[in-house]
Order: sequence, then structure tokens, then C-alpha cells
Amino acid sequence: MDQLLAKIEQYKLEIQASSVGSKEELENFRIKYLGTKGLLKSVMGEMKDVPNEQKKAAGQLLNEFKLFVEAFYQQLSDSFEVSDNQSANYIDSSLPGQSLPLGSRHPISIVQNKMIGIFQRLGFSIAEGPEIEDDWHNFSALNLPENHPARDMQDTFYISQHPDWLLRTHTSNAQIRAMEKGELPLRIICPGRVYRNETISARAHCFFNQVEGLYIAENVSFADLKQTLYFFVKEMFGADVEVRFRPSYFPFTEPSAEMDISCLICSGKGCSVCKRTGWVEILGCGMVHPKVLENCGIDSNKYTGFAFGMGVERITMLTYQVKDLRLFSENDVRFLKQFT
Ligand code: PHE
Repeated sequence: MDQLLAKIEQYKLEIQASSVGSKEELENFRIKYLGTKGLLKSVMGEMKDVPNEQKKAAGQLLNEFKLFVEAFYQQLSDSFEVSDNQSANYIDSSLPGQSLPLGSRHPISIVQNKMIGIFQRLGFSIAEGPEIEDDWHNFSALNLPENHPARDMQDTFYISQHPDWLLRTHTSNAQIRAMEKGELPLRIICPGRVYRNETISARAHCFFNQVEGLYIAENVSFADLKQTLYFFVKEMFGADVEVRFRPSYFPFTEPSAEMDISCLICSGKGCSVCKRTGWVEILGCGMVHPKVLENCGIDSNKYTGFAFGMGVERITMLTYQVKDLRLFSENDVRFLKQFT
């Protein structure tokens, strides 16, 4: 019995000193001590040599030893699991990262930014105004008094709770607000969203974007207007594009004109986009009506000015050859991701 006790103490020391560095060594440890032909089994086998009266004490001793070996093994294998987990969480910072899908700018924003950039190079700065506007800034100040038939040129959304309010039909409201401030000379462009009560189709929508421009100083002439717009068209569409002006009517400009460019899609030969004429209208323009200047407190004997306005959707359709304007507001990513 004493011999057995001494042996077990010896084994315990040996086990405690054993170092296990890999899964393979762990398995060897298990086989050596806990396996069917292992040390534990052979020590247990020594029970038969123990005299009967000592069997009980020896049984207890062996049982304790068994628990000790099993607990030790468990501890070793637990420590391996921890290091396994650690390797699962280990981040190899030298691996190439997973790239996140990046969005792209909306084609309307791309084109609008380009338009703004061209006018900024000519010294225009940006002026903005509210999309919910009162009747004065959207219509009356622009020489469109109540019951003026030209109000029908732009079908208007009115705000039913407030009879004087409406959704602006053009960004000219921002021009009126800028003129009312009275700081002259004035050279601004007004980008922004506008609203008209129109049936939605491939060519028209109930909301769209405009860039309008206004230049007021002494001795501004129609020639200045034409040169400004020539510069814009060449920068926007390239040097080969042709331009023509046609007389037109707007209540807020006199004289008024509309400007066409040669069709970019068929190069002037005639197609469905230009309705077989070879020309596409892109903007309205003219010399600011003296009444409009007076409405904003500007002396029309001293100052003259020109104004122009165009739709960003139309310019974008020509730039990217998009044939249906509804695509711009449907948010179909397959369409939107084509533009960079
Ligand atoms: N405000 C006009 C429109 O929206 C465009 C325009 C602006 C025409 C300035 C002439 C001069 O239709």
C-alpha cells in the first residue's frame, strides 16, 4: 500500500511536469495516461495485489488519482480550444481588404455640377431660394400679375391651406430675391428643383431641375448674353456644336429668345430626339424686362441685365443619350450606377 502511494505521488509529479505543445502531443498524453493500455489502467490493475483489509483505502486513493489525471487532461485540452478560438479571431492585417460597394453620383448632379462650374468660371456665384414660394416671387414680380394669360404657360401646384403659396415653377424666384437685396452689379446662377402640374411622360415630369442665370450691371447688352451662352455651350458640349437663337416670348424678358443647339444624337441629320429638325431647344433667355427691375427696386434707366433658364434633365439626356426622363427619378440602381 505504501508502495502504491509512493508510485502515485511519483506519477503525479511526472504528469504535472509534462508539457503539451500541440494537438498531437495532447493525444499522445491521452493515450499514455488514459488510454486502454495506459498508465491509469495499469495502476488500477495493481488493486488485485493489495491485501483485502487495505482495499478500501487503496480504492479511494486510486479513484482520487483517476480524477486527478482526467482533470489534468481536461485542463490541457481546454487550453487548446482557447488558442483555437484565438486563431479564428486573429486578423491578418496583411491580407487585402474586402472593398465595399461604392455609390456613384446621380447623373443629374454630375451634369448640374458641370454646368455650375462653367458659369462659376465666368464669375457667376450661386444663389438659392425656397421651393415653397409666394405668388409675388414666383409670378407677380416677374411681370406676371394675377390673371395674366402667360401664367398658364406653367401649370402650377398651389398649396390648398395657404392661397398665396405654391411650389415654384422655376428658379426665377431666387433671382427676384437676389435683386431685392439691392447689391449691384449682380451675377448669379440659380440651380434647383421646380414643380409643374404636367402629365408624366418620357419628355415631361411634374418635378425637374433648372439652372437659371442673371447678370445685372450698367450697359449689359444682348451681345453679352449671346457670348455667355456660346461659351457655356462650347464648354458643355464641345467646340463642334452649332447654336441658333429664335425670337420668343417671356413676360419677364424683352426681347426674348430661345436657344437651340445642333442635335448631338444625329449630328443634325434628323432623328426622333430632334423631331427630324436637326435642332434641339435647350433654353429660354432675354434682356430683363424693365418692369421686373423696377419691381425689385432697381433703377432701369441706369441698369440693364440678361437672364436665361434651362432644364438640367434635358441637358443630361443630351449628354448621356438618355431617351426617357422618368429614369432620373425611379432610383433604379442598374441605371444609376452607369454614370461616373
Ligand atoms: N423662367 C423661364 C422658365 O422656367 C426660363 C427663362 C429664364 C426664360 C430667364 C427667359 C429668361 O420657363
